[in-house]
Amino acid sequence: MTEYVIEGGTQLYGKIRIQGSKNASLPVLAAVATNHIDVDMFNCPSISDCAYTLKVLELCGRHVQRNGDLIRFTGDPLETDISVGEICQMRSGILFAGAVLGKCKEVKICSPGGCDIGPRPIDLHLKAFESLGAKIVTEGDGIISIWGHKMAGTSLWLDYPSVGTTENVMLCAVNLKGITEIHNAAREPELVELQAVLNAMGYKVSGAGSTVITIIGGRDETITSCTYTICADRIVAGTYMTAVALTGGNVVVTGINSEELASVSDVISNAGCYVEQGLGWIRVISDGDLHRVRNITSSPYPGFPTDMQPQTMAMLAKARGVSVIRETVFENRLRHVDELCRMGADIMVHGDTAIINGVDRLHGSRVKATDLRSGAALILAGLGADGKTVVQDTGCVDRGYQDICGDLRSLGAEVIRLDEKA
Ligand code: EPZ
Repeated sequence: MTEYVIEGGTQLYGKIRIQGSKNASLPVLAAVATNHIDVDMFNCPSISDCAYTLKVLELCGRHVQRNGDLIRFTGDPLETDISVGEICQMRSGILFAGAVLGKCKEVKICSPGGCDIGPRPIDLHLKAFESLGAKIVTEGDGIISIWGHKMAGTSLWLDYPSVGTTENVMLCAVNLKGITEIHNAAREPELVELQAVLNAMGYKVSGAGSTVITIIGGRDETITSCTYTICADRIVAGTYMTAVALTGGNVVVTGINSEELASVSDVISNAGCYVEQGLGWIRVISDGDLHRVRNITSSPYPGFPTDMQPQTMAMLAKARGVSVIRETVFENRLRHVDELCRMGADIMVHGDTAIINGVDRLHGSRVKATDLRSGAALILAGLGADGKTVVQDTGCVDRGYQDICGDLRSLGAEVIRLDEKA
């Protein structure tokens, strides 16, 4: 168990360079399993999800060498059974299904199962593989075998612009003969990042960021070793922008693509902060006296990101007036409401919608992180509360934040991390 102990009331000032992106790293690392070329990777964040993913790559047959910020991949990934051990515990292991299936034409995976924010089914992934010509056999106790020796490029339509499904099809189709078009594709920046690394490896992918992505497969002769640097994490940047909006102060987040945070900047500006942006940076200036933001609805990119919903709710808990946040992406992503209410917030939930009646003050309390972004949200709420807050965490925050304590402390926050002795 980890405890984050926060003494509220301090404003935040300074500049912070944002870590590598969790949600870009995971598909980019899965791309390393699509071929046997040597790959040098930089700026992969030191977070538990990436540590797990590197283990999956080793299981697939890749050799992984770390030297500071460099991760070097060599060796030929030939293993097709990745339905083992801790890989089954981590959701994003599903992304290896597409990479291994495309390269080896068969794969055995475990159904990743649900998590704290929803059942997280993989029906869209499996339907897409079937569209490509794969045969799927569910073997019981969550093991799924996928046979794909007759797969070929095709045009397919996603019922929902699922990020993971779009990524999985891209990772599979690069090694299939023929052209694949993904329609109703997810448009998140992480798809653009995956397209970039696949093209750096010599594949031919285009359209990422739009609703139609085209993959020209079967280009073995053009595959080449490459060096790749992973982009900054837009959700970590948004988390720190929301923190200074809540506490008051003046903070610049750097090393980012500010356009990816347009919807977050809009909300923070509408709450009464001054937001300025330039090439690779965003500044937020706040007096901490925020007012309500009427209607926020989480939706696929370029809509408001679901991964920023908990942090934004923490910010609006002290904003004057009534704000409304609707969560439309995940079924169970409002569990932080109860914990915020233990700190004095006045929030009612009706179905997928939270009505946030802003209060003058939050008070420090002992609260529990229920998932990655809720844990971050509670740390932010502690920054804006009177007195001491203790956020108990079983490792959720470490999944996505490399050093949230160090980052916030560098901006003046009073926050420490206590780890239970092993
Ligand atoms: C990615 O999850 C991110 N994770 C999530 O970030 C993010 O919230 C989500 O995209 C939406 O932007 C990673 O990139 C590792 P989806 P993913 O497939 O790919 C349903 C964080 O906090 N669905 O777009 O799983 C699904 O249940 C995490 O960093 C199906 O029904 O998202 C959900 O309700 C949380 N069947 C919705 O679609 C499927 O086969 C969106 O899921 C697949 C998805």
